[in-house]
Amino acid sequence: MKSGLDAKHLRPVMTTSKQRRGKLTKALIIGQGAREHAFGWKLAQEGVELLFGPGNAGTRKLGHNLDFIDPEKDDISREVIRFGHEEQIDFIAVFHENQLKKGLVNRFTRAGFATFGPTIEASKIEWSKIWANQFLDLYGISHARGVKFFPEYDFVLPNNFRVVKADGLARGKGVKIAKTIREIPKLVTELSIQHPEAAREILIQEFLEGREVSVQAFSDGKNLIFLPPAVDYKRIGEGNQGENSGGIGSFCIDTWLNRQNEAEVKTIMKKLVDFLALNDRPFYGLIYGGFVLTKDGPKLIEVNARPGDPETQVILPRLRSDLFPVLQQSAAGQFDVTSLDWDPRVAVCVVLCSEGYPGKPIINRVIHGLNDLPKDILVFHAGTTLNDKRELVTSGGRVLSIVALGATLEEARAKVYEAIKQVHFEGMYFRSDIALNV
Ligand code: AMP
Ligand code: GLY
Repeated sequence: MKSGLDAKHLRPVMTTSKQRRGKLTKALIIGQGAREHAFGWKLAQEGVELLFGPGNAGTRKLGHNLDFIDPEKDDISREVIRFGHEEQIDFIAVFHENQLKKGLVNRFTRAGFATFGPTIEASKIEWSKIWANQFLDLYGISHARGVKFFPEYDFVLPNNFRVVKADGLARGKGVKIAKTIREIPKLVTELSIQHPEAAREILIQEFLEGREVSVQAFSDGKNLIFLPPAVDYKRIGEGNQGENSGGIGSFCIDTWLNRQNEAEVKTIMKKLVDFLALNDRPFYGLIYGGFVLTKDGPKLIEVNARPGDPETQVILPRLRSDLFPVLQQSAAGQFDVTSLDWDPRVAVCVVLCSEGYPGKPIINRVIHGLNDLPKDILVFHAGTTLNDKRELVTSGGRVLSIVALGATLEEARAKVYEAIKQVHFEGMYFRSDIALNV
């Protein structure tokens, strides 16, 4: 076993013995979303043998779904490690934020598996917004300023401090925006009821005006390989109205960032990774910066420690280079790859949701029409499963990501919406204004 870093941050490196014996690399992806399906879709084209824990009805066409893995459970490490040794798994990728917080990557790494994803220490940048706020403050990294909420404030918040965020993980639903600072206590109470665990502590952030962009990069602890910028639609309703969801539409177009913004966001992300390493929290995996492009330049509003969903669904279809070497080198703590080759076309994704989402979704509804879609339409599954009759049915809030590439956003979105006309399940909901008028 060799390591890309010093002994303290020893990274198991995938053995090549199997490759020498002419066998495929066997990789396990932990998770069950459309993001995981998209990673699997790309890796399958590169000849990787895939297992998904637990996966969904889409991933089962690419490999084996391991139903005994439930990422919502507290500790899945023992069963996965045992299975991994028995089945000679070469590589594990962890994207699921709850499991990052539980230290799954630390445990797999200690057990000797080459593992893609940050440690519990590095992923704190996502799973505690209050800690992230202090960290960004301390190192002068450009971000929305914030303060921890105390009911008994003895000072008055500036008027623009009206974004109320749960400190912990709330599946993208832990943010509320107050109309005035007077509304803050009410929103704090609502968050505490909806997310008792995540909202035990609250961060109040300044509200930033400007266009949003998600900037993602693979990291080997020191170096970054950037992905093209993507835009994610979080609000459930048309015209960005209504509650926040986990993200129900996205697009990816290089020109979303001008040269100056691009240079600035890259500098900010690099600084972030450098300071995490300096703090003894080297970041291996994919780091995600949610930015607002303000008139004073790009500022972070959130940092995630894993690929975005539905950003992944519009980025990976554009990736022409092999993905697996990047994941493997990131996990090993040493990139040899320095840049990636991208399809110049743009991509649009519309997420088909279940009735009830982002609240409690109504599930077990039969999905029709996927077999009739044109060949250039990509479908990434999330909340799907097979029922007793082997019919494809819904099993969650975000059900399917429908994706198309095009020369322009107009062309790509027209293809997606045309394809959606063929797909149906009872109570199906989607936004009709994704990538419209941008
Ligand atoms: P987050 O989960 O932190 O990305 O927040 C969800 C959405 O809330 C973002 O995509 C923004 O639209 C909005 N938001 C969050 N923080 C801010 C902020 N500081 N200023 C303006 N909008 C924000
Ligand atoms: N789309 C935002 C996220 O994955 O957090």
